[in-house]
Amino acid sequence: MERPLVFPSLLAADFARLADEAARVEGAADWLHFDVMDYAFVPNLTMGMPVLESLLKATSIPIDCHLMIEDPDRWAPSYAEAGAGSVTFHAEASRAPLRTARTIRAAGARPGLALNPATPIEPYVDLLPAFDLVLVMTIEPGFGGQAFLDETLPKIRRVREAIGDRAIWLQVDGGVTEDTIVRAAQAGADVFVAGSSVFGAADPAVAIEGLRAAAMTATAGAAGAAGPALTTRG
Ligand code: DX5
Ligand code: ZN
Repeated sequence: MERPLVFPSLLAADFARLADEAARVEGAADWLHFDVMDYAFVPNLTMGMPVLESLLKATSIPIDCHLMIEDPDRWAPSYAEAGAGSVTFHAEASRAPLRTARTIRAAGARPGLALNPATPIEPYVDLLPAFDLVLVMTIEPGFGGQAFLDETLPKIRRVREAIGDRAIWLQVDGGVTEDTIVRAAQAGADVFVAGSSVFGAADPAVAIEGLRAAAMTATAGAAGAAGPALTTRG
């Protein structure tokens, strides 16, 4: 695969010092992952538009918004208009995923489709051209610090197959460590969100490079064995 991308999740950062936390990963993080929760789609509440607007002014790192909210068809476009680099919403919560994806793309951001562990990719395969990112959740969303669910690995492989030659990112989120990133990379993921394993480390930038190296080694060593996971994207 191309160079694996590592997106540290700010959910595991100090919310009172977000600009400082972003600065700690500058140069190592590819993008910043920004988790939006609404006490409805998930049993937790985090950040929203006002915080995103402030953070965009405080960092030059692109921001990847992960909306764990009800009614994303109503709220997602505003995150793209504010300047997020990508806006990912959940398939389970959207009633008009194609329209929402097109609106996000028209606003200049990458639209992303997120799937909870129990949600299959198959009903969404025909929609993939409307998206630039598929997020396979490797935990039940809502909280950081949970263990990676190996049950999601077969779906990661099927999403990789469905993506084929398209330049769509296959992102995983939840329980990503130097151990689990190996299995996710071998299954075909190429964008890795990591919260606790980055901001819980003494040096978050070093932790990011460790994750990236583990993902690269995982796929380089398996040449010819992991099938679609190793297909170079066009
Ligand atoms: C949880 C969030 C994740 C979270 C992952 O629902 O979507 O982005 O930060 O945290 P870790 O990496 O600790 O599992
Ligand atoms: Zn997330």
